[in-house]
Amino acid sequence: MKQKVLVSYGKDNFPDEVADKLRPFAEVLRVSGDYSEQLKEATVLLASGERVNDDFLKRAPMLKLVSRFGVGYDTVDVDACTRKGVYVCHTPDVLSDAVADLTWAFILGWMRHIPEADKYTREEWGKKQKGFPFGWDIGGKTLGFLGLGRIGTEVVKRGRGFGVKLIYFDVVRRQDLEAQYDINYVTFEELLKTSDIITVHVPLIPSTKGILSTKQFQMMKRSALIINTSRGPVIDQKALTEALKAKLIAGACLDVFEVEPIPLLEELLKMENVIVTPHMASATWETRRKMAERCAESIKGYLEGKRPPFTVPEQKSVTF
Ligand code: 8YV
Repeated sequence: MKQKVLVSYGKDNFPDEVADKLRPFAEVLRVSGDYSEQLKEATVLLASGERVNDDFLKRAPMLKLVSRFGVGYDTVDVDACTRKGVYVCHTPDVLSDAVADLTWAFILGWMRHIPEADKYTREEWGKKQKGFPFGWDIGGKTLGFLGLGRIGTEVVKRGRGFGVKLIYFDVVRRQDLEAQYDINYVTFEELLKTSDIITVHVPLIPSTKGILSTKQFQMMKRSALIINTSRGPVIDQKALTEALKAKLIAGACLDVFEVEPIPLLEELLKMENVIVTPHMASATWETRRKMAERCAESIKGYLEGKRPPFTVPEQKSVTF
């Protein structure tokens, strides 16, 4: 009997041409909604955003590999998987460019009021009743990175072309990148106090949950802009809403939220100094294809009896 691979993602993300590469080795089943029945016999799961924890694993007695369609794997309890001998793989590197591009689109879009300018041109300009507010130069501003990993580094590279001053705080100091890209390491407090724009590129782990909250907003410049393309819960969303209302900071650009989809009645969605997008930083045709291929490489490796490539760092030295 062939092993079963469940794919809980649609064809735009995991196209048939990629799925076909797995078919010589396994039965590939697309699932959606409640797939408990199919899960009982599955060896591999290509997971979208479902929570893979002890409870989930109890319902998947034959599971050997969870392949996360993304670089972040906060939805997967890696310890629980390791205890059960289940590999966890993800898709590092291939989406860094796309996320960095969206980060810069946010910076430019907010600094030059592009969403409001679009609305103004369609609805107001022809009436000649009121003018349109000026934006701000990017060059000369201090761009602060909270987290300087793969994605942050791609944002840094793009920043050099804009003539911004680059600073970062991370738990891991990157002297190699400091020399290469003229970026300075600062303390968390200095980052908050001196950045004109703060861009968040940390994973969601217990120590980063709510790392930006009221105390941190109070330390920032009143003109500061916050960009978040990492994970919603890294920022205390209620505190952010209050800080924006109280004008402790000037604005925010958010691709990720504490709850997704963000409820339509959320106050943040009514604010003009906020730009929001629906967790789509990696959503380009090219990047999603590369993510699909990367998932397939891990799954194929496992089905061929090898150690799967692209296991998460916590499992780098384990073999089941
Ligand atoms: C999502 C992401 O995975 O890579 C990540 O961690 O957050 C995104 O790429 C993507 O939206 C698919 O769920």
